[in-house]
Amino acid sequence: MATTSFPNLFLHLLLCLSSLAAASARVPAVIVFGDSTVDAGNNNQIKTVLKSNFLPYGRDFTGGLPTGRFCNGRLATDFISEAFGLPSLVPAYLDPAYTIQDFAKGVCFASAGTGLDNATSDVLSVIPLWKEVEYFKEYQKKLRRHVGKARARNIVREAVYVVSIGTNDFLENYFLLVTGRFKQFTVEEFEDFLIDRAADFLTAIYRLGARKISFTGLSAIGCLPLERTTNALQGGGCIEEYNKVARDFNVKLQALIARLCASLPGLKLRYSPVYDSLLRIIRSPSSYAPFSGLVRHGNVYDYNRSFTYIYISFINLESHSSGTDTVCSVLWISRCDGR
Ligand SMILES: *[C@@H]1O[C@H](CO)[C@@H](O)[C@H](O)[C@H]1NC(C)=O
Ligand SMILES: *[C@@H]1O[C@H](CO)[C@@H](O)[C@H](O)[C@H]1NC(C)=O
Repeated sequence: MATTSFPNLFLHLLLCLSSLAAASARVPAVIVFGDSTVDAGNNNQIKTVLKSNFLPYGRDFTGGLPTGRFCNGRLATDFISEAFGLPSLVPAYLDPAYTIQDFAKGVCFASAGTGLDNATSDVLSVIPLWKEVEYFKEYQKKLRRHVGKARARNIVREAVYVVSIGTNDFLENYFLLVTGRFKQFTVEEFEDFLIDRAADFLTAIYRLGARKISFTGLSAIGCLPLERTTNALQGGGCIEEYNKVARDFNVKLQALIARLCASLPGLKLRYSPVYDSLLRIIRSPSSYAPFSGLVRHGNVYDYNRSFTYIYISFINLESHSSGTDTVCSVLWISRCDGR
């Protein structure tokens, strides 16, 4: 594959988000909902075993300390914020180190381990998606007190919303056989159930004022290091059954997005496809290596026990951004759907 792939993908990400931003000259805030792919530290503040408050998480972060991001450095959402001229980090809503003054420029409600299905967040006692929406309401109240009604409304309407969720509904819930969903639904029915939950969520934040929303599709979830490790008997390959579910879900998600765009006036909802980019990198990691410093570990995954997960995409953006930050989620590289 072409060695220019990675920079092109990064460019796509910026172009896509810029298209979301195009309607207004300035994006006042980046507002994040979802799971571990975008959790900036909310789980550190709740009672759950699912935390990333230990090394090697955070080792490439300024200061080399874990922040609660499930990442060695900054998250894609942090880079997105910076690309809009906003702060270089999107702070976790529950982190007491930040105040509404910070959150007025960006806030993260995400919680690692959560999902579209209420039953998913129950598995590891993390923040359910409906609760993320409750926090969003509370945030708006604080924002109105802080900047006044009119400016608060403007921030909420002009902000770019990044949503990344769904993987745990399959990997932690349905296929782990822990919640009973596998008995209640066929996998196709469960996909439909999750799509309905996504519709509920998107409609809820739309009613609360959100307009520019990027919804990330599922990645090749059968190729995540943890899944490949559990597939060791089959040679550690990707679990095709899971990948197929991700592809099917993504088709349904895109149909939902088209439906919502048609029915909710003023909504700019974009699908952010990540399935192919992750797969390309997994299949051909060396294609990404020629960029000095881009691929840190020569390979994009590593079977180093529980830390394997965070090695998926240690793509170093040194040559594209300042310092030694690393983008965790190539999973995040996004492009416009043309809408
Ligand atoms: C999920 O839980 C919330 C809060 O209890 C509830 O309002 C909502 O209806 C639940 N969703 C579903 C699909 O059961
Ligand atoms: C796992 O990674 C850590 C940190 O990079 C390293 O020190 C350790 O030797 C690795 N373990 C294995 C079994 O590769």
